[in-house]
Amino acid sequence: MTAGREELLRGGADPVEAAEETTLRPRRLDEFVGQPRLKEHLDILLGAARRRGQAVDHLLFAGPPGTGKTSLAGIVAAEMEVALRVTSGPALERAGDLAAILTNLVDGDVLFVDEIHRLPRAVEEVLYPAMEDFQLDIVIGKGPSARSIRLDLPRFTLVGATTRTGLITGPLRDRFGFVARLDYYEAADLEAILVRAARILGVPLAPEGATELARRARGTPRIANRLLKRVRDYAEVRGDGSVDGETARAALALFEVDDLGLDKVDRAVLTALCVTFAGRAVGLGTLAVAVGEEPDTVEDVYEPFLLKQGMLLRTPRGRVATDAAYRHLGVAPPVAGPEASDVAERLFDEEAPR
Ligand SMILES: Nc1ncnc2c1ncn2[C@@H]1O[C@H](COP(=O)(O)OP(=O)(O)OP(=O)(O)O)[C@@H](O)[C@H]1O
Ligand SMILES: [Mg+2]
Repeated sequence: MTAGREELLRGGADPVEAAEETTLRPRRLDEFVGQPRLKEHLDILLGAARRRGQAVDHLLFAGPPGTGKTSLAGIVAAEMEVALRVTSGPALERAGDLAAILTNLVDGDVLFVDEIHRLPRAVEEVLYPAMEDFQLDIVIGKGPSARSIRLDLPRFTLVGATTRTGLITGPLRDRFGFVARLDYYEAADLEAILVRAARILGVPLAPEGATELARRARGTPRIANRLLKRVRDYAEVRGDGSVDGETARAALALFEVDDLGLDKVDRAVLTALCVTFAGRAVGLGTLAVAVGEEPDTVEDVYEPFLLKQGMLLRTPRGRVATDAAYRHLGVAPPVAGPEASDVAERLFDEEAPR
């Protein structure tokens, strides 16, 4: 990543940003905007568990980055009035790491495992009996004297989050009682999220400003909130601090967020496909190098929204841009047409797509 601007829009490292994200995080189910079916389903699950005085079934939340998975894990714990323990797939390197966490849980606790698709295999195997029978098998000692003992665990609720359902193994997925998919948000929901965030942050936000930001937030609550904060900065320095349609448009133009909410990296992806590779199918690795990002970032963060916008296709041979992408960039599609580019690709022996 070159400039800091994308960092600002995608977020992550900045501690101030992280603290503000916590302030804006919905705490209870009724503060969680949108996804009405999912909310109702959860409400029923949580209500039923409360009535029976039991822990909730294990839950898996899957969806694009910034769409509310971590928020929902917190909401589940808050609504059940139990403690939330947080860890993540990559943090659990060895089976012992998970065993230590599991044995410290209390009845009813929610254990949140973020990026659960990145759990090492050996750790995942410890999770199976823990989820299913609330038991932990541990091996003590080595060699011929090694023996396995079985410990009873408290009845906990595992909440997993993933941006890639495709990478969750069958046995793991089957052990969740409920798998919820979060999708990109409608503009109306994003507006509601922006109005809520503006109230919490004390930013005067005019309806037209909210509409403008919602339209360009890539269907993602986190990006909506982040755009609001950046536009607030702009409004404070260049205007009277209030965010109306005009201010929002001017600020977003400065931050190079275009009409559809695509930023510089999104456009770099499309430019690579349409111009640099002139319409040929491109493998993920090549595309990532062309835009100067990690393949995982391209695949998890940038591609899903471009796919959703119908600007990019994943084909068995690689990524290709659609007519909509050429139109958006204002570039003429290659004259040769798709068949000819197929031939070109075989001649050039394109790398296999990942
Ligand atoms: N439904 C919602 N209503 C209100 N605010 C929301 C909602 N979903 C997300 N947000 C806002 O977006 C921010 C990011 O959400 P969250 O951290 O839950 O996303 P995530 O799915 O866990 O993302 P990642 O995949 O990057 O971990 C939250 O701090 C919150 O401010
Ligand atoms: Mg999260």
